[in-house]
Amino acid sequence: MKLGVCYYPEHWAKDRWLKDAQEMRLIGIEYVRIGEFSWSTIEPTPGVLNWTWLDESLSILHDHGLKVILGTPTATPPKWLVDKHPSMLAKDEQGRVRGFGSRRHYTFASLEYREECRRIVTIMAKRYGNHPAVVSWQTDNEYGCHDTILSYSAVDLDAFRIWLKEKYQDIQALNRAWGNIFWSMDYGSFDEIELPNLTVTEANPSHRLDFQRCCSDQVVAYNRLQTEILRKYSVGRDLVHNYMGFFTAFDHHKVSEDLDVASWDTYPLGFLDQEAIYSDVEKHEYLRTGHPDFGAFHHDLYRGCGKGRLWIMEQQPGPVNWAPHNPTPADGAVRLWTWEAFSHGAEMVSYFRWRQAPFAQEQMHAGLLRPDASTAEAAIEAGQVSNEVKHLANELGVDVDALVSLPTAGKVALMFDYDACWSLDIQPQSKAYRYMFWCYRVYEALRELGLSVDIISAKAEFEHYQMLVLPAQAYVSPRLEARLENYRGVLLVGPRSGSKTESYQIPENLPPGPLAKILPVTVERVDALPEHTQMDVNGRWGIGLLKHWHEQLKTDLPVLLSDSSGAAVLVGKDQRYYLGSCLDNDVLKVSLSRLAEKANLSPYFLPKGVRMRQRGNLLFVFNYSPVSQTYRPDDSTALIGGEELISCGVSVWRKE
Ligand code: GAL
Repeated sequence: MKLGVCYYPEHWAKDRWLKDAQEMRLIGIEYVRIGEFSWSTIEPTPGVLNWTWLDESLSILHDHGLKVILGTPTATPPKWLVDKHPSMLAKDEQGRVRGFGSRRHYTFASLEYREECRRIVTIMAKRYGNHPAVVSWQTDNEYGCHDTILSYSAVDLDAFRIWLKEKYQDIQALNRAWGNIFWSMDYGSFDEIELPNLTVTEANPSHRLDFQRCCSDQVVAYNRLQTEILRKYSVGRDLVHNYMGFFTAFDHHKVSEDLDVASWDTYPLGFLDQEAIYSDVEKHEYLRTGHPDFGAFHHDLYRGCGKGRLWIMEQQPGPVNWAPHNPTPADGAVRLWTWEAFSHGAEMVSYFRWRQAPFAQEQMHAGLLRPDASTAEAAIEAGQVSNEVKHLANELGVDVDALVSLPTAGKVALMFDYDACWSLDIQPQSKAYRYMFWCYRVYEALRELGLSVDIISAKAEFEHYQMLVLPAQAYVSPRLEARLENYRGVLLVGPRSGSKTESYQIPENLPPGPLAKILPVTVERVDALPEHTQMDVNGRWGIGLLKHWHEQLKTDLPVLLSDSSGAAVLVGKDQRYYLGSCLDNDVLKVSLSRLAEKANLSPYFLPKGVRMRQRGNLLFVFNYSPVSQTYRPDDSTALIGGEELISCGVSVWRKE
């Protein structure tokens, strides 16, 4: 439970650096991320390297006991480099070049750019790989930010053809897999294949899915190029990348295989305002605290991506600059977000950024310090957290460093799969349907029941969980199907699961395809609804509305929920259940609470805006609501706070 900060010494006069380090220590900061956008400072002209600033700032930070996460500077290649390799620039779907003048102006598939990355990362890793201040490296910055995963340039086309050749070997195999007989789309060779943009109408969805997979693999290869160098020259340092919220354009599980820690950048207010998932009512209610499940969902998602280790690389400290509207956080919100992250296993929460920049694109983005170096509100809350962590360790009779070993595992698992996300979003069938949003709403309902959830990949072990939810596992591999067959906990399979083959076709036996073996159901027809049309649903397991997606099920399984015509919506018995529709929060929550009871969990309907997370015998309770709430867990002693929770209130309890 450590604090960190993102720091840009190169933005400030040198005579300030000492004071910065001293003030960081006073707040309780231990980690400092630097360097990730500094290529033009490091190498102002080709081959001329300027290390003085970085040498000096590293040594000041080190002298103050601060641990450094050093960023590779590859998210911002300098102008001279772009001019040297114009083909490294990405192209958007309309074929327009995405030019220099901001950041992330490269395509992952560019081999010329990869060579430049190899060069600069090697030089940096050799120079600082064994520096005593450097404990970790961040590769690049926010892969995919500003919509930069899919690119449609000539180098992307080359990469795609190579990728397809490797996957299919034979062009007829590709034709069959994609169903190219439809609309005369057959190809005679891999060299005839184009990128799936600029077509007259929708490109073949199998073509699009493979392109998405290929672009995702380019990110994996690009990241791996950097991690291999860093592993070689900087032994024993944690390698990390900072992911983003609601971002699914590449497979984070695959990228994480090459990293030690998964981290992400959390901006609860920016995302509340920006994302289509949230209703206007939610946007109003949680304007200054962020949605109660935004941070939690991503903490659990990313902790499950890699080796179970989680950092928050960038935590919103005040208003941001990039959302349609940028309100200030409520008093206490920064503290609330920080504790929420710790309760999900974050080893470190680092604020973005140390001092607000008075120039360039992000001059309206808050920091822990104001542009004039005076202390902003978030610095005070960060300091408070740092003291509270010491208090907590004290109460538990352990050293602060020992808090890292508190268990993080939940008892419920929710499966999240990037390939399923791409499949279902490529042909959503209802504009109102989004895979990510449905997963989020299922997670939200579980959390409103006070349950601690782990979000796992389709390859992760799930045998030990008491309850497993597959919100929408589009393609179910033979291996996954076999493991589900052996699973002994309570299983809920959601709508659209098993609805596609690996190459994006409807399975021969109709959805849920291979899952029909364990859940004898056939989806005969689908009603894909607009946002404005919701239908009544009721039964033994609740009452409410269904929306976006409604399957007509043929089955002999017992019916627990049905629509107003009496058709089955939720069916199943014993340990296995199939849900054929997306449900609204009320009925979803009641149904999930029934399942949780069957799984021997103790679901509890928490007050509005209140959430809870368990780590071992510690319970963390949060109030995101704008008004005070009361909650006292049974048989527990308060270590921080108590049962009265003001807005943004946090309490920590030990279960006896
Ligand atoms: C992140 C990014 C940072 C900064 C921040 C502003 O997406 O990694 O560099 O731009 O947003 O909120």
